Amino acid sequence: MASPGAPSASSMDGPEPPHHAAPPNVPTKEWFDTKGLDYETIYGHNEGLLKAVDKLTARLRPGCRVLDLGCGTGRPVAHTLAARGFQVHGVDFSSTMVSLSRAAVPSPHGVFDCAHLLDWAPPSKDQKYGGIVATSSFYELSREQSETLVSRWRDWLEPGGAALLMMGAAEDFPGTRPALYDADGRFARGIPFRFMGDDCFLYLFTRAGWRALLEEKGGLVVREHWVERFVPSEKADCDDEVNSFFIAEKEKTVE
Ligand SMILES: C[S@@+](CC[C@H](N)C(=O)[O-])C[C@H]1O[C@@H](n2cnc3c(N)ncnc32)[C@H](O)[C@@H]1O
Repeated sequence: MASPGAPSASSMDGPEPPHHAAPPNVPTKEWFDTKGLDYETIYGHNEGLLKAVDKLTARLRPGCRVLDLGCGTGRPVAHTLAARGFQVHGVDFSSTMVSLSRAAVPSPHGVFDCAHLLDWAPPSKDQKYGGIVATSSFYELSREQSETLVSRWRDWLEPGGAALLMMGAAEDFPGTRPALYDADGRFARGIPFRFMGDDCFLYLFTRAGWRALLEEKGGLVVREHWVERFVPSEKADCDDEVNSFFIAEKEKTVE
């Protein structure tokens, strides 16, 4: 089977901007394009994620606009948010995923853009979001790219708004060897992980690293953090995931 990080035909045509250069063997846009509904079959009923959406919505201004970064198929997150009266703006670099999201949450309840997270910006400088969600969608980003992206949340999230981040943490994966960590111990590069029938390498902050990302780069206050294991069916051919969930808020007094 092809490596999920194998270069695509287009990426071999010439140099791409540096922020498109995925580290080797992480799941790429082309890889997600082939997954679509198979991804939803395995991960679309994650009870832990649904519980986290409950906790987030309890903190959101009713009916506000919520940004979903790496929205996948739109289920369960975007669909659940829309069903509760929130307006969803999703972004994903996989055209397959964006088509599925548009079907799951039709306009005007959902708007979905096909773009790399680092290339995307709100449609106008004045557009703010009452909530931001990012669930399992930063594994393709380097540390520096995640830091750049979360720094932008300072402009995108309205005062009093809330964010939900669900990501695996480096120390919770059995394949994370000491040599993989950055010198400050907050990030590990190339963690082996079996993902939907392929051997991948993930790029993850530690629990403390994810918290620092939200607080130091995003200017947010972490209100809740908890950890839950997700066990995919045997047929899925995926390793178990231990996910860290963070609910964070932007203080009302902060500009
Ligand atoms: C593991 S799935 C998670 C989907 C959804 N957030 C969920 O929790 O069900 C990751 C999603 O993020 C998207 N994604 C990953 N890296 C991205 C990037 N750099 N730019 C845009 N989308 C990205 C993938 O296409 C995929 O749909």
